[in-house]
Amino acid sequence: MITLQNLQKQFSGKILFKDVSLQIGVRDRIGLIGPNGSGKTTLFRIILGEEPIDDGEILIAKGVRFGYLPQEVIPLKGDTVLGEVLKGAENIISLEDKMKILEEEFSSIQDPKEQEKLAKEYGKLQERYAILGGYGLEAEAKQILRGLGFKERDFSRRTEELSGGWLMRVALGKILLQSPDLLLLDEPTNYLDLSSLIWLEEFLINYPGAMIIISHDRVFLNHLVNRIAEIENEQLHLYSGNYDFYMKEKA
Ligand SMILES: Nc1ncnc2c1ncn2[C@@H]1O[C@H](COP(=O)(O)OP(=O)(O)O)[C@@H](O)[C@H]1O
Ligand SMILES: [Mg+2]
Repeated sequence: MITLQNLQKQFSGKILFKDVSLQIGVRDRIGLIGPNGSGKTTLFRIILGEEPIDDGEILIAKGVRFGYLPQEVIPLKGDTVLGEVLKGAENIISLEDKMKILEEEFSSIQDPKEQEKLAKEYGKLQERYAILGGYGLEAEAKQILRGLGFKERDFSRRTEELSGGWLMRVALGKILLQSPDLLLLDEPTNYLDLSSLIWLEEFLINYPGAMIIISHDRVFLNHLVNRIAEIENEQLHLYSGNYDFYMKEKA
């Protein structure tokens, strides 16, 4: 799905890594580890196209959708907790808007022929909406929010009122609802309590796509990943197993 070839990256003369190569398949679960400042976050930003490379090549299959949870909390405003998470499913929401417009139009026209035309168009949108999972969307969003520790009464709270940890959970919920092809999670467990952590682990174990997880939580990585990529001495070293496997190989 994605191939990184001989990537090289430096910041004002300081080399982060040279010759980083990595293949990411559609079901890969990769734990990205390395000391602080080794370039883990930068590698995510390179994959996302937010950070240029000095050398090498990045090949991304057409249409691949990313879901990125940044390490730093981004402030959110202008919506409720549930509204913000639902916003993630843009394609479904925009279909919903179109359907609403057609409904209004339908009630304002008299001509049966025009009505029939509109009804046909509406039917097509409805079908597409159902295929994309539109009817179950809100229920799914609520289920994700509950899993991440929100209570029913929090769903209608404004995101401006939330603390950093809860903002991060909203951002995470939004990404999970989108169900992208590749999840890039930068320290996702930092703000989670135990029950949310366990829920997230279960959710990710059953996740149908690929993921790269940056985490210091060895237990979390052990449960989730089947490959470890370690940035060390300006290189990316690959291990085909979970964190325990990596430790054994290193020993
Ligand atoms: N935009 C930037 N400009 C200059 N230096 C940067 C920039 N982003 C990151 N760095 C530096 O690159 C190094 C790696 O950063 P980062 O990718 O955040 O590491 P990690 O996520 O592994 O802790 C750090 O020394 C950091 O200060
Ligand atoms: Mg980082």
